Amino acid sequence: MARLTFLGIESSCDDSAAAVVRLGEGGAEILSSIVEGQVALHADFGGVVPEIAARAHAERLDGCVERALAEAGLTLAEVDGIAVTSGPGLIGGVLSGVMLAKGLAAGSGKPLVGVNHLAGHALTPRLTDGLAFPYLMLLVSGGHCQFLIAHDVDRFERLGGTIDDAPGEAFDKTAKLLGLAQPGGPVVEREAALGDAGRFRFPRPLLDREGCDMSFSGLKTALLRARDALVAEKGGITVQDRRDLCAGFQAAVAAVLAEKTRRALAVYLDHSPAEPALAVAGGVAANGAIRAGLETVCAAAGVRFLAPPLRLCTDNAAMIAWAGIERYRAGIGDEGDLVARPRWPL
Ligand code: KG4
Ligand code: ZN
Repeated sequence: MARLTFLGIESSCDDSAAAVVRLGEGGAEILSSIVEGQVALHADFGGVVPEIAARAHAERLDGCVERALAEAGLTLAEVDGIAVTSGPGLIGGVLSGVMLAKGLAAGSGKPLVGVNHLAGHALTPRLTDGLAFPYLMLLVSGGHCQFLIAHDVDRFERLGGTIDDAPGEAFDKTAKLLGLAQPGGPVVEREAALGDAGRFRFPRPLLDREGCDMSFSGLKTALLRARDALVAEKGGITVQDRRDLCAGFQAAVAAVLAEKTRRALAVYLDHSPAEPALAVAGGVAANGAIRAGLETVCAAAGVRFLAPPLRLCTDNAAMIAWAGIERYRAGIGDEGDLVARPRWPL
């Protein structure tokens, strides 16, 4: 097998990232992975502001690419190809990445591969653990929530997903409602660890309905009502109230994800995978309670549970470089007329 080295570029949301990944005799190796987050830039606005994100990507991506190549000890002339996220995402950011990648490819004569951001997440377990197809994937982040069976480099079967908010978004909104800092996930998890999950019983939406679809927006409304009831009753909420609300909320999300995972595994196992495995990706996969729920369900089904290191679960460019290598090897790489696509289901 020939050695393949790709530069990857990612700018679809609020992380400007560049990385160099090499596939060699001994497997895949991440030679460098630079991620410049923008949390501070958006902190005052309660969410990612597309115009601010686009400008930041335009200003920073060049530097990310330079650092990624320098850390890998390579020049552009020494890589075999360039991969870039060409969607889905915030269009200004995606365009920044695509224009930069096109320029680099034209200037160096290297092949250019457009990568679907979700495919980048979904192929990560092959970069980290060499996972064999087909495996089940659960993407849970601030923007996505879906079950996918990865059948092949370019073939993903969607089993279901959220019909409204993503779980990370629900964590972030919960934090906001309770006056906690953003991003909400880690803070709510810390508060929940000190709370009583049994005090408030929040709904487990769509569990009564067949299939793998999920809904998280009602949870936030239930939490708002519980908070307002406490405020009406005693004029405010105590530190312990807040911890209990966080614990109840987190328990509901974990229960929904575990039950829907159980159902997705049943569908997946019908494909008789040789090495059955569930891999998770996305920032919410960092949550200990959610992870524990998934591990229990996998153990009961006899399926390997795999969570790549967090820096590769959240947005990064190593996954894009890797997906570029996979597509290029499969002969589906060459994209002369690469366009940025704000919407692009797998
Ligand atoms: O994958 P990610 O970095 O970015 C995208 O959304 O694409 O995920 C960020 C999301 C945020 O909503 C954040 O609150 C959530 O992941 N998150 C968590 C935890 N850590 C991050 N949610 C629950 N528990 C956590 N420990
Ligand atoms: Zn992502």
